Amino acid sequence: MELNKEKITLIADCEVTDKSKTAGGAVVRTSKFCADISECDFEGSCFVQTNLCATFKCSDMSGDYFEEVDLSGAGFERSDVSGAEFNEVNLSGAAIIDSDMSGIEISGCKLDGMTIDGFNVRELIEFYKKNHKENFDMKKNVRKAVIAGNWKMNKTRPEAKALLEELKGKVSDPGCEVIACVPFTNLETAIEATKGTPIKVGAQNCHFEKSGAFTGEISADMLVEMGVEYVVLGHSERRQYFGETDETVNKRTRAALAAGLKPIVCVGELLWERECNITEEVIARQIKLDFYAVSAEELKKCIIAYEPVWAIGTGKTATADQAEEVCAFIRATLAKLYGADAAEAVTIQYGGSMNAGNAEELLSKVNVDGGLIGGASLKAADFNTIIEAATKG
Ligand code: 13P
Repeated sequence: MELNKEKITLIADCEVTDKSKTAGGAVVRTSKFCADISECDFEGSCFVQTNLCATFKCSDMSGDYFEEVDLSGAGFERSDVSGAEFNEVNLSGAAIIDSDMSGIEISGCKLDGMTIDGFNVRELIEFYKKNHKENFDMKKNVRKAVIAGNWKMNKTRPEAKALLEELKGKVSDPGCEVIACVPFTNLETAIEATKGTPIKVGAQNCHFEKSGAFTGEISADMLVEMGVEYVVLGHSERRQYFGETDETVNKRTRAALAAGLKPIVCVGELLWERECNITEEVIARQIKLDFYAVSAEELKKCIIAYEPVWAIGTGKTATADQAEEVCAFIRATLAKLYGADAAEAVTIQYGGSMNAGNAEELLSKVNVDGGLIGGASLKAADFNTIIEAATKG
């Protein structure tokens, strides 16, 4: 919860005991806290220069702000501390047990001897740095960089052939994987034109059933039989215009994997969702649902494309930092669901107005392993510049 600055009331020299309530923006100073405090509602409160050496049980401290507070030896048990901010707080020897600490921010705090569910916090931080950040950084070099062109509903067969012929001349030995995801009607042409070249061919969707009365749909087996290797799934244009949901994306992903295709699964937030500050919730939900019942081994065969919907076809690219932030979040979410090994192995692309001019900066980011390119993939020279940028990245 955000502090409501207008409603802040100062509570000084009060005695805080069981079932106390200071929710909604109280600033608590110089107060006396009893040793054991249960079921208190401090949501969104602000503690400044206070001694809080107490044990808080089953209390709501979500969104609280602590500044220059002594919490040494304090305890939080079965409490909600999510979103709290700790600034220059003494947390030495504090013990957090079975409490929600998601989204907390800690700066300039003493943490010696602090434990979370019995684990020493300093050791946890070291472990995280070693097993996540550094490994992720290193894995950038071993993860496959993949540049995929999503042609969308563009190019007749002769046009497709001409574009691929031009591209072939440029990408004889790319330092990354190159894929052309073409309309269904161009698949055969593309497979023929790219034979003996490093360019792989992908489709832009597939159905989840193997066969049957599904007019207008194409099954994963049909694609595999043709020699198609990749398939784009859950693109925002499919979600937006054709009623695709996380459930159908999940079914298609599982069907594609079962047939032997490598899915490129697209996730991304709407502008409105970003403005409402729920990008991470949206992305985490999509990842959890789209990959439901997908095993770690299967996940490693997938590519995830982070495509913020507001950046697609708008010329408004996410900044490299925004792209990195969400791609890193996707990897962290995968690490929680599948473990660090699988998360480190997955190629995560950025997509959304990536072009010859901005690709190098976007692809230089540690968690941006490639790109899913719309408009710029329709021009061989531009697409090739992006491929070269990925090789440097
Ligand atoms: P643009 O590169 O045209 O913005 O499209 C991105 C995209 O949707 C790729 O799938």
